[in-house]
Amino acid sequence: MAYVLQLPFSLLLLLPLLPFSVAQTDRNVSLNSSLSALDNNSSWPSPSGEFAFGFHRLENKDLFLLAIWFNKIPQKTVVWYANGDNPVPRGSKVELTTDGHLLLNDPQGNEIWKASSMGGQASNAAMLDTGNFVIASRNSGYLWESFNNPADTILPTQILEVGGKLSSRQKVANYSIGRFQLRLLPDGNLVLNTIALPTEFAYAAYYISNTFEADPMDSGYRVVFNESGYLYIERRNGSRLNLTSGNIVPIRDFYYRATLDFDGVFTQYSYPRNSTGDESWSSVWSIPDDICDDIRGEWGSGACGFNSYCILTSEKRPTCDCPQDYSPVDPNDKFSGCEPNFMQGCDEDEPGSPEDLFEFQELAGTDWPTSDYERLEPYNKEECKRSCLHDCHCAVAIFRGGTCWKKKLPLSNGRVSRTYTGEALIKIRKADTPSQNQPRPPVSNTKKKDQGTLILVGSVLLGSSVFFNFLLLTAISLVMFFMYHKKQRRDSQVKGAPLEINLRSFTYQELEEATDGFKDELGRGAFGIVYKGAVEMGSCNLVAVKKLDHVQEIEKEFKTEVSVIGQTHHKNLVRLLGFCDEGQHRLLVYEFMNNGDLAHFLFGIMKPDWNLRIKIAFGIARGLLHLHEECSSQIIHCDIKPQNILLDDYFTPRISDFGLAKLLLSDQSRTRTGIRGTKGYVAAEWFRNMPITAKVDVYSFGVMLLEIICCRKSVDAEVSGEERAILTDWAYDCYREGKLDALVENDTEAMSDMRRLERLVKVAIWCIQEEPSLRPTMKKVTQMLEGVIEVSMPPCPCPFSYVSSTINMPE
Ligand SMILES: *[C@@H]1O[C@H](CO)[C@@H](O)[C@H](O)[C@H]1NC(C)=O
Ligand SMILES: *[C@@H]1O[C@H](CO)[C@@H](O)[C@H](O)[C@H]1NC(C)=O
Ligand SMILES: *[C@@H]1O[C@H](CO)[C@@H](O)[C@H](O)[C@H]1NC(C)=O
Ligand SMILES: *[C@@H]1O[C@H](CO)[C@@H](O)[C@H](O)[C@H]1NC(C)=O
Ligand SMILES: *[C@@H]1O[C@H](CO)[C@@H](O)[C@H](O)[C@H]1NC(C)=O
Ligand SMILES: *[C@@H]1O[C@H](CO)[C@@H](O)[C@H](O)[C@H]1NC(C)=O
Ligand SMILES: *[C@@H]1O[C@H](CO)[C@@H](O)[C@H](O)[C@H]1NC(C)=O
Ligand SMILES: *[C@@H]1O[C@H](CO)[C@@H](O)[C@H](O)[C@H]1NC(C)=O
Ligand SMILES: *[C@@H]1O[C@H](CO)[C@@H](O)[C@H](O)[C@H]1NC(C)=O
Repeated sequence: MAYVLQLPFSLLLLLPLLPFSVAQTDRNVSLNSSLSALDNNSSWPSPSGEFAFGFHRLENKDLFLLAIWFNKIPQKTVVWYANGDNPVPRGSKVELTTDGHLLLNDPQGNEIWKASSMGGQASNAAMLDTGNFVIASRNSGYLWESFNNPADTILPTQILEVGGKLSSRQKVANYSIGRFQLRLLPDGNLVLNTIALPTEFAYAAYYISNTFEADPMDSGYRVVFNESGYLYIERRNGSRLNLTSGNIVPIRDFYYRATLDFDGVFTQYSYPRNSTGDESWSSVWSIPDDICDDIRGEWGSGACGFNSYCILTSEKRPTCDCPQDYSPVDPNDKFSGCEPNFMQGCDEDEPGSPEDLFEFQELAGTDWPTSDYERLEPYNKEECKRSCLHDCHCAVAIFRGGTCWKKKLPLSNGRVSRTYTGEALIKIRKADTPSQNQPRPPVSNTKKKDQGTLILVGSVLLGSSVFFNFLLLTAISLVMFFMYHKKQRRDSQVKGAPLEINLRSFTYQELEEATDGFKDELGRGAFGIVYKGAVEMGSCNLVAVKKLDHVQEIEKEFKTEVSVIGQTHHKNLVRLLGFCDEGQHRLLVYEFMNNGDLAHFLFGIMKPDWNLRIKIAFGIARGLLHLHEECSSQIIHCDIKPQNILLDDYFTPRISDFGLAKLLLSDQSRTRTGIRGTKGYVAAEWFRNMPITAKVDVYSFGVMLLEIICCRKSVDAEVSGEERAILTDWAYDCYREGKLDALVENDTEAMSDMRRLERLVKVAIWCIQEEPSLRPTMKKVTQMLEGVIEVSMPPCPCPFSYVSSTINMPE
């Protein structure tokens, strides 16, 4: 980024400031004109000559695209194309018909593509200086615009309306539709997602702008690339979410474009207008930040192809690589995925034990997070390897902190991550075993084992360009740098490193004084009593002081856990300010929340506003998502209920008490000394011999979501009618019988928002499934709530229901 911004200044020094005229006069294309796909004379340029419309010949092929490109730069960068899936041969023709249609025909006269101008009589067409090709109406305005039918790029002055989308191409020089999509959804969110080819069914999003609000007036409704070169999402209420960050150099001196690249990264590029010829486009800004890590949906292969893994370069670009003894499916395309060079599985006739036939390559920091079929714990690494070795299905095992996940092919969403502490144990055949068949000569592989990544790297370097080598080396050094640092950090933590400075250590006496001798009790929770207090601390004076009981049970290193909690910041979490660790006294000091807890808010006399309730539900979901997936180590809350959701001055929900479960449980995911959850909100796993996972929070969230929808407690013996006493049962009955209105009686706002009500209820029912694996992750929950993905019909959350593999999980 820094060097991108330096470029223009040096250029400005070299060049006198030159006048820039916005030439908007059209060079009209009259009706009944045509162009032929030949090497010369096959474009209509814009008046300034900066853009041209016509036939663009594909590199090294005698095929042509009907396209628009930057006409003054040597690369002739294409910004729009009509027939990416179907390039046409030499001699094809595009014609602006006398009735104003734009027709692309192959030399035999077959129609390949057509732009229909509807709703009026056309007068002419024109390539404008903005890069927009238009068919103009006789009256006024345009009947058709290339700006309204974008391919993978948008340009300054172009606007993407609700429903608009960009599709990536397949490769740099292959314009067929690729696996990535950028869409502005009807709910106002801008999302990036992968798709299934060829149907274009949309998979989960890997970037969400979060411009959906409960009030449609506050939601996003268009993506604007304004004429100064700034890209932003505009909300209906007029405010904006900047996509382009900071200040950019004036458009007078630079060309800009924003392209959804073939690798799934949406990037704004700049190019000096008066280049000397050897320039290239530089990235100004891009999303997402880490595509390797951000694509984690259940379907699709991830940023790279199946069985390969993704490494993020210093320019936030993905590169892909194959494990040892796997080769790229297409030797010329690293993004095509990998396949093993050897026979997978077991052959009964094969002599010898698995130990004789297979061995493991170990790749630190590597994971394929979504291809598990078995999870074993507690297990050590040797047990993990042995288990995979003797299992014909097992292709890879991931080992992390006493847990072993077994995975089978194809592996998806592979990535090497700086923060991931696990390691991949990849099962490969020993070199001299008979079934080491090699379907193709491996490109980036080597048969020598145990020299690990270095050889792999070396062989990749040999086969690629200097520029790519540079990228790769940078990426690798970066990965190693982070792995080294991570290790250092871990080491220092183990040795009892000092706490983060931003967490204040109090003496017991200080807190006794702050709370006036623990006088003003705010509430009692599973972990102790909370008191109101006042301390001098920056802008924040009022605090909530939690006196932990069960102190004798705290086996964990108190300060370590507290520092983890102290480092966890999110707008939907209550912030820890300080602590006291003095003999038997253990106290936590939190910021004070003015509007009490969600229970008081929901179950008071007045029903709170429907839209505000929805906003609160979304906020809680985001907070939980942060705890589950966005922290350096996962935090399972274990006690989600309205009493643990506090409301700040703006009624933003803030989850409290997170991280405490871990203080009191020797191993959070296994033992349950003293059930932590609260009756009515706890999932069945607590009572069964099942591991406790993040899905317990999903269950509790589901119950609470129903409470938020209905403004009533989950168990309420006082409601009229016995069948209504248990909210989860009653809600499912109402849903099944199509009587959702019963859930929100007398709530006119909710009644007039039935579609959203139904979506929320469906999400809640998915969350309260008896079988943990059927419950969606919090990521999926947020996406379903926000309408980014469809919510399928939930099955009955009944206990003892037959959990069948045919139930369709929500997407
Ligand atoms: C670029 O340079 C040419 C001549 O060198 C000049 O005519 C033109 O105005 C310049 N354009 C810009 C945008 O500075
Ligand atoms: C081009 O067409 C527009 C109407 O679409 C007309 O106003 C303009 O005069 C035409 N320009 C030329 C140079 O013919
Ligand atoms: C269109 O152009 C062709 C030749 O290029 C000509 O024969 C034909 O008469 C024209 N049609 C109209 C309606 O102008
Ligand atoms: C244009 O190219 C064709 C062959 O592609 C050639 O026959 C013709 O002479 C060229 N015309 C001009 C004006 O260069
Ligand atoms: C292409 O060439 C033909 C004849 O050689 C000419 O009439 C026509 O105007 C040219 N088109 C363009 C866009 O230059
Ligand atoms: C682009 O890729 C697709 C699918 O891989 C292939 O079918 C098509 O022929 C390629 N197009 C070109 C022009 O090479
Ligand atoms: C528009 O809505 C957003 C999101 O709710 C809010 O942050 C912003 O303050 C609103 N702006 C105006 C002008 O109301
Ligand atoms: C484009 O947007 C930027 C940032 O929002 C703003 O500073 C600039 O004035 C806008 N330009 C125009 C022409 O509206
Ligand atoms: C968006 O960018 C413009 C111009 O850089 C700036 O004035 C504005 O404050 C930014 N808005 C936000 C919400 O950051």
